[in-house]
Amino acid sequence: MFSLDMRKYVNNARGMHWLFIVLIIGIAFYLPFLIFGAFPYNTKTNTNPVEMEKLLDGIEAVDFYAMNQYLPKSSEEIQKEIDAFETWEGGKCRFCHAVKKDDRDRMAPTLYGIFGRPAGVGNNYTYSDALINMKGNGLIWTPETLDAFILNPSNYIPGNRMRVEGIEDPEIRKLIVNYLMRESKPIKGE
Ligand code: HEC
Repeated sequence: MFSLDMRKYVNNARGMHWLFIVLIIGIAFYLPFLIFGAFPYNTKTNTNPVEMEKLLDGIEAVDFYAMNQYLPKSSEEIQKEIDAFETWEGGKCRFCHAVKKDDRDRMAPTLYGIFGRPAGVGNNYTYSDALINMKGNGLIWTPETLDAFILNPSNYIPGNRMRVEGIEDPEIRKLIVNYLMRESKPIKGE
């Protein structure tokens, strides 16, 4: 009698343990999405060339990267920009975003060639509806719109999935814009 109860208990406990493990694994997979807005395995192309042409109608001739008031003067300034982009005291943008063409994909859309690019068109990323709506509204990333976005991401695009507190210091925002001006410049013809 006792051993039958015991077996029942063990069987139940085993079931509970498995349930617990499945729950933990489930949470472990969901957390990065919850905290960082991350989608791990994407191979999507978000915008075809025809749509892209439409989105860029009227601004395709503007070369934002040629606006050299954004380019730095000394190596000290360059280091400051790198710190602003990469560190936790700055914008910690590097934690989530790739910048160079050959950077591995990170958990957020790449910022390669971001200036002059419509919102929500980066490949290999599943955007929030909020960002896709902004694409439809004609939002183009320029030094000004990017500055306004990182000042207060959830205010500038309500419902977007970039879970980052705004950067209130205009100097740091400028350093970040400068960094992207230099580092995300697209290679001609690509
Ligand atoms: C915690 C991760 C994380 C950090 C840190 C982060 N981002 Fe993002 N970013 C995202 C995600 C996720 C999205 C996509 C949002 C969506 O789809 O709603 C995004 C979107 C963007 C976009 C729009 C891209 C597009 O293709 O339209 C820009 C621009 C951007 N981030 C710039 C920055 C800058 C500059 C910083 C540093 C100040 C930064 N991000 C820090 C996760 C992050």
